[in-house]
Amino acid sequence: MSALAPTVQPHMPEGEYGEPVIQLTAARKVYRSGTIEFEALRGVDLEIRQGEYVAIMGPSGSGKSTLMNILGCLDTLTTGHYRLAGHDVDDLDEAELAEIRNKEIGFVFQQFNLLPSLEAWRNVELPLMYGRVPSHERRARAERALERVGLGSRLANKPGELSGGQQQRVAVARALVAEPTMILADEPTGNLDSVSTRDVLGLFDELHELGRTIVLITHELEVAQRARRIVWVRDGVIADPAETARAIGHAGPGGGAAA
Ligand SMILES: Nc1ncnc2c1ncn2[C@@H]1O[C@H](COP(=O)(O)OP(=O)(O)OP(=O)(O)O)[C@@H](O)[C@H]1O
Ligand SMILES: [Mg+2]
Repeated sequence: MSALAPTVQPHMPEGEYGEPVIQLTAARKVYRSGTIEFEALRGVDLEIRQGEYVAIMGPSGSGKSTLMNILGCLDTLTTGHYRLAGHDVDDLDEAELAEIRNKEIGFVFQQFNLLPSLEAWRNVELPLMYGRVPSHERRARAERALERVGLGSRLANKPGELSGGQQQRVAVARALVAEPTMILADEPTGNLDSVSTRDVLGLFDELHELGRTIVLITHELEVAQRARRIVWVRDGVIADPAETARAIGHAGPGGGAAA
């Protein structure tokens, strides 16, 4: 197996990881616009355990972002069940969803989603604003998070004064400052050059080694290969291991088969 061969382990050995963080059962998501309905998720079962590093791949329009929005409590299922870190998410209202989102999840987006008028450390302290963390502690924790991503000398710079890779590292600092159960990243390296991609993936590796749960969406096989498991989404369902291996083989730069 070459160093670049994808790791496909749809069935984790029992006991290798911790408690389930994500439990999706028979998940369906139907979008309605006027009289038109579109079933973007058509019965997804997915379990991700504490400490796993999972990449979600699949063709454009297959339902990856829809799945991510569900996992991130940014949207709710039409039918089926979602348990996040032991909480039943199905029937929560907006305020409850916001609370659980804030406590359990750190987000990293393709477009960084930083507030342009705020210095780096003020962007990073934002997830702590919802809790009852005193301001001096918020600042200290934000600075520590920025030091951890290698931006200790850029604490007071605004996003516009930082490179794309640095902005994404600020976003990673923001995602981890509140010590969430899980980091959820949608195309986090989609706007980065190869050096910044390596930096950001290196940070994810470190977080994974520290036991964090990481779920990332990517179109790039080389990025997905950093994860310990690849989930392939196709037409609103999760492909079985054989189809996943075929799909990754075809998507791969050398076209080599997986597993
Ligand atoms: N709000 C919406 N209303 C109606 N249809 C939607 C809505 N959001 C997404 N869809 C449809 O659901 C399907 C899945 O969309 P989704 O954004 O999850 O795909 P994706 O896998 O993330 O694609 P990409 O790789 O291009 O980001 C697509 O066919 C899309 O057109
Ligand atoms: Mg998408």
